Amino acid sequence: MLTTMLTTMATVLPHLLLLTFAPMVSLACPHGCQCYSDVPSVHCYYLGITAVPSGFPPNTTLLAIRHCNITALRRGDFSGMPLLATLYLDWNNISTIEPGTFDGLFHLQSLAIGGNRVAKLPPGLFKDNKLTDFDGSDNRIEAIPSGVFTNHSSLTSLILNGNRISMLGDDAFAGLPQLVEIQINDNLISRLPADALKGASKLWTLSMPRNAITKIEQGALSDCTSLYNLDLSGNQLTTLEGSLKGLSNLNSLWVSGNRVLEITNSTLTSLTSLRDCWLDNNRIRKIESGAFKGMGNLNNFYLGNNDLEEMPLNELVGVLKLDLANNRLQSPPLNMTAAPNLAILMLSGNPIKIMASSQFASLKSIFEVDLDNVTAVREDTINPWALCGAPTLQSVSLNHNNITSFPVDLLTCAANLTYLSLSGNKMANFRKDVFYNLRNIVQLDLTGNRITNISTLSVALESITFLDYLTLTSNPVVYLPKHAFPAFIQTDNVDLNDMKLRAVDKDAFEWMGKLQSINMAKNRLRFIPGKLFANISVEKVNLEGNPWYCDCQMYEFAQWMKTNNMSEKFDVVCDGPETLNGTYLSDIPLKNLTCDCVHYQAPTINTTGSDTVVVAGHDARLVCNVTGCPEAAVIWTTPLGDAFSEDSDDPRFSVLSDGGLEIHEAKTIDAGMYICTAINYIGSSQEIVVLGVTG
Ligand SMILES: *[C@@H]1O[C@H](CO)[C@@H](O)[C@H](O)[C@H]1NC(C)=O
Ligand SMILES: *[C@@H]1O[C@H](CO)[C@@H](O)[C@H](O)[C@H]1NC(C)=O
Ligand SMILES: *[C@@H]1O[C@H](CO)[C@@H](O)[C@H](O)[C@H]1NC(C)=O
Ligand SMILES: *[C@@H]1O[C@H](CO)[C@@H](O)[C@H](O)[C@H]1NC(C)=O
Ligand SMILES: *[C@@H]1O[C@H](CO)[C@@H](O)[C@H](O)[C@H]1NC(C)=O
Ligand SMILES: *[C@@H]1O[C@H](CO)[C@@H](O)[C@H](O)[C@H]1NC(C)=O
Ligand SMILES: *[C@@H]1O[C@H](CO)[C@@H](O)[C@H](O)[C@H]1NC(C)=O
Ligand SMILES: *[C@@H]1O[C@H](CO)[C@@H](O)[C@H](O)[C@H]1NC(C)=O
Ligand SMILES: *[C@@H]1O[C@H](CO)[C@@H](O)[C@H](O)[C@H]1NC(C)=O
Ligand SMILES: *[C@@H]1O[C@H](CO)[C@@H](O)[C@H](O)[C@H]1NC(C)=O
Ligand SMILES: *[C@@H]1O[C@H](CO)[C@@H](O)[C@H](O)[C@H]1NC(C)=O
Ligand SMILES: *[C@@H]1O[C@H](CO)[C@@H](O)[C@H](O)[C@H]1NC(C)=O
Repeated sequence: MLTTMLTTMATVLPHLLLLTFAPMVSLACPHGCQCYSDVPSVHCYYLGITAVPSGFPPNTTLLAIRHCNITALRRGDFSGMPLLATLYLDWNNISTIEPGTFDGLFHLQSLAIGGNRVAKLPPGLFKDNKLTDFDGSDNRIEAIPSGVFTNHSSLTSLILNGNRISMLGDDAFAGLPQLVEIQINDNLISRLPADALKGASKLWTLSMPRNAITKIEQGALSDCTSLYNLDLSGNQLTTLEGSLKGLSNLNSLWVSGNRVLEITNSTLTSLTSLRDCWLDNNRIRKIESGAFKGMGNLNNFYLGNNDLEEMPLNELVGVLKLDLANNRLQSPPLNMTAAPNLAILMLSGNPIKIMASSQFASLKSIFEVDLDNVTAVREDTINPWALCGAPTLQSVSLNHNNITSFPVDLLTCAANLTYLSLSGNKMANFRKDVFYNLRNIVQLDLTGNRITNISTLSVALESITFLDYLTLTSNPVVYLPKHAFPAFIQTDNVDLNDMKLRAVDKDAFEWMGKLQSINMAKNRLRFIPGKLFANISVEKVNLEGNPWYCDCQMYEFAQWMKTNNMSEKFDVVCDGPETLNGTYLSDIPLKNLTCDCVHYQAPTINTTGSDTVVVAGHDARLVCNVTGCPEAAVIWTTPLGDAFSEDSDDPRFSVLSDGGLEIHEAKTIDAGMYICTAINYIGSSQEIVVLGVTG
């Protein structure tokens, strides 16, 4: 239709041009509108008019007046177009519709008045029309009294989203046997009267989310035997008892965000076709035995954020996905053998205290188990063989469980894992064998742990055969050494954003030939080694939010970027020196990237003056006096392998602005070898300081 309109426009426009020179012939078309003869239709867009114009071709069947400033529709406005079938008046400023406005329009089928300020639809407004579609969204309609739509037997679609409807007449939508869809989203309706939908036997979609419905009266939906989608989310229902009886074709039910308290053995049982059911964010405390009888088609069941203390899986023979997150479950779901198809089980945020050996073994199709913030994991009361006996298990999520060292035992049986998420825990270092038994991992999420030094992780990752995705976001890592990631790693995407990176070795990514995308945003980097990206085919690099210091240290990189036409790919914005703050590196001439050095040299370190012994409980101070120009980044590594820079905010280890390391309230485990590393673009050096802790 659009294409015919456009071709018509192309043929009509030259004629219009001619007409400006010829006297007006009988081309009836209101000023500023476009009239097309084939439909015949009139289109008036973006005109500063406040009333419906006159002078339309009398045979017009489609009229669109959109984005104009019409303030009222008056009786007689459309009377010159008796054949009008389609009328689009959306996005005007209509607040008044006079009774009788649409009288005599016996062919009017589609009416859209969305985006106006209409407050009232008087009963009888459409008495002469054969309306099939009405769209009155985003107005200020306050009520749908009986008699506006009642008994309009041709109506198929009724859309009233985003109004202020608080009242529905007792038979507001009764007598609409062709009705297929009603949307009344985002209104203020508190009650669905028993007869409101009488006779709506073809209704397929009833959408009323975000109203204030406290009650669906008994029988209100009993004629809606074709109902396929029912959306009642974001209302104030406390019970569904009796409301859903007989909806044997219902496919999707949304009741999220209500106040439902229980599911009895008759609440849902007539929903024999139901596939998707959202009952999350309610107050469901109890599920009666037999509650899911006959619901073998249910595939996706969302019960998160309720108050369930136990959950039997009886009768849930077809369930594929079950969300039980954030309930009060004391134990994993009961009678798991009843759900042989269950693939995704979400148990996060439950106070489950005990998880037995081979806990999920009877779920013959289990693919994913989410155990974020689960008491048994957090407090380590979970049986170490809990994940055994589930050969189909591929995805495990153990986020926010206060885990300090990689849960090797718990994952011993999960050799087929491809996805593992351990974000929000407290792991810092990794034994080299932690992935020996987990070689199939493809995606690994370690966001928000306490990794400061990736070298132990880097060694451990060597056992994974094919890692496709790795995220280390929000770990306080300060440095990426040469070959930061093992040679075998196949990952094409690595997230290193929001860390404390102070320096990156020029060969950090050298082995990562497949790397497609690197995110290093929000770190503390001041320069990029000239060849950092030279040997990898990376497509996307995010370098935002680093305090780039555009001096001689950036020269090599800028030169490489410019000679390879890569300026678009790396939008490096300088933070310093002050005169260049806010300037794109690519806009700075190479000759301007200079440093104020007498001798350009790699750093050297003098640690003379460091404490050699400290009494436990006292502070110790180690010296790392760096010479060399330009100024070097200083990284300290502790005997336990943690690494810190001036930007780390560790409570016990502070790197001072003179390069020194302060150890607050030293403990005996702090004794040992400390390494100071200093790095500038020319090179780096390291010195060892040994600290003893006594008593
Ligand atoms: C409608 O009226 C408003 C306010 O008077 C004005 O800003 C806007 O440009 C008008 N629209 C058209 C299409 O003239
Ligand atoms: C509608 O009327 C116009 C003249 O006002 C005429 O050119 C056109 O052919 C008519 N279209 C139809 C479909 O009758
Ligand atoms: C819409 O109409 C009202 C009066 O009904 C007027 O105050 C307002 O400025 C109009 N808005 C626009 C955008 O024209
Ligand atoms: C439903 O539960 C009630 C008790 O709450 C019981 O009397 C009734 O037999 C149960 N009905 C079915 C079909 O299980
Ligand atoms: C477990 O579920 C099956 C199938 O739904 C059922 O026959 C059995 O009685 C249930 N067992 C218990 C202990 O509830
Ligand atoms: C973890 O779950 C407990 C309840 O078991 C809750 O109090 C706490 O806020 C949750 N923590 C997180 C990080 O979600
Ligand atoms: C891994 O999956 C295979 C089938 O794909 C299965 O035979 C094997 O037992 C599984 N391994 C474990 C440890 O579950
Ligand atoms: C986390 O574990 C530490 C001990 O390692 C404990 O002191 C702390 O209370 C735990 N935090 C939570 C939220 O369980
Ligand atoms: C650079 O400019 C931004 C604002 O444009 C400012 O927030 C920042 O502190 C400046 N950096 C320096 C080093 O002056
Ligand atoms: C580069 O330096 C010259 C002077 O040496 C100066 O005039 C020019 O503005 C500088 N360019 C930029 C982008 O800072
Ligand atoms: C290190 O510094 C001390 C004093 O701060 C000085 O005596 C010593 O010669 C320096 N060592 C080297 C190798 O420069
Ligand atoms: C670092 O060395 C310089 C000269 O070598 C010396 O003047 C300075 O005091 C030393 N700083 C520290 C903290 O030892």
